[in-house]
Amino acid sequence: MQTTDSIPFDIDQIRTQIDTAMVGFLDTLKLPSKLDDPIRYALLAPGKRIRPLLAWASAQAAGGSGNESVPVAVAVELIHAFSLVHDDLPALDNDDLRRGRPTLHKHAGEAAAILAGDAMLALAFEALSTVKPIPSTTVHSTLIAQLCQGTRAMIVGQVYDTLAGFDESLSDEAKIELIHTNKTGALIHASCVMGATAAGADQQTLDHISGFASDLGLQFQIIDDLLDVQGDPKLVGKTLRKDDDANKLTYPAVLGIEQSNKIIGTLDQSARSRLEQIGPESNGLRVLLDLMTNRSH
Ligand code: IPE
Ligand code: IPE
Ligand code: MG
Ligand code: MG
Ligand code: MG
Repeated sequence: MQTTDSIPFDIDQIRTQIDTAMVGFLDTLKLPSKLDDPIRYALLAPGKRIRPLLAWASAQAAGGSGNESVPVAVAVELIHAFSLVHDDLPALDNDDLRRGRPTLHKHAGEAAAILAGDAMLALAFEALSTVKPIPSTTVHSTLIAQLCQGTRAMIVGQVYDTLAGFDESLSDEAKIELIHTNKTGALIHASCVMGATAAGADQQTLDHISGFASDLGLQFQIIDDLLDVQGDPKLVGKTLRKDDDANKLTYPAVLGIEQSNKIIGTLDQSARSRLEQIGPESNGLRVLLDLMTNRSH
């Protein structure tokens, strides 16, 4: 367990608490098994839970215990799981493997995958108002707006990634930044600012966390691109070496591996300096930044 003087940040314990909250939420819904089973298959599969962890650490950075972020954590992981299920569909990335297991459409069929994804999008908003601790009405309406923005931007990013349709004047470098900050950065950003908001962050702390999250969000997808090129398939749990064949615009394809690594270093430094503005309460975020910068999956 890593700790600051006063604030515990036990990743395994937080993951367990979030998974328990997700299961508890699904249990209350009593969905028909043809919907419940695929949702649980996708949502509870062994992912990193980085967005819930970021929400928790951001709540702590804002002066909370972390626990205030549980409804946010469940909501952002539902949106993330929905995005993965639809991202893997034959019409998008056509992937067979996710989180070390067959993708949901391979496991349960395309109809189940499409419908489970649809449901998880709605359930994210339901979780925000029913999972405890229930936020005040004012905080709740801010959280909904933040989750809407993050989700909308994720889908905009997926549209650029899948269908292109860019402004003709953009360079490839500008296009790739636009894709990545939207398809991946935005939900990571929402996870952080929502976690901080749930804990009642003041504006200055929120601004620092927002800057941190923008840096981490872009860095996270550049590393995902690099893992596709250089990662160990057994560790990553996805089929790798696919982006090039699919003609994806990625950082290594557009700028090369060396330049991609330089940008990762710059973003890491910038994210780190944001946390220095916050102080020891941001320790959890620092732990997560270290993990994400050095990740092999
Ligand atoms: C994968 O996200 C999709 C991207 C946005 C890059 P993660 O790398 O967080 O996937 P899990 O949740 O650990 O499976
Ligand atoms: C996906 O980006 C981003 C999402 C919004 C799901 P990728 O297509 O690169 O993610 P992986 O590599 O399939 O996890
Ligand atoms: Mg994709
Ligand atoms: Mg994909
Ligand atoms: Mg990828």
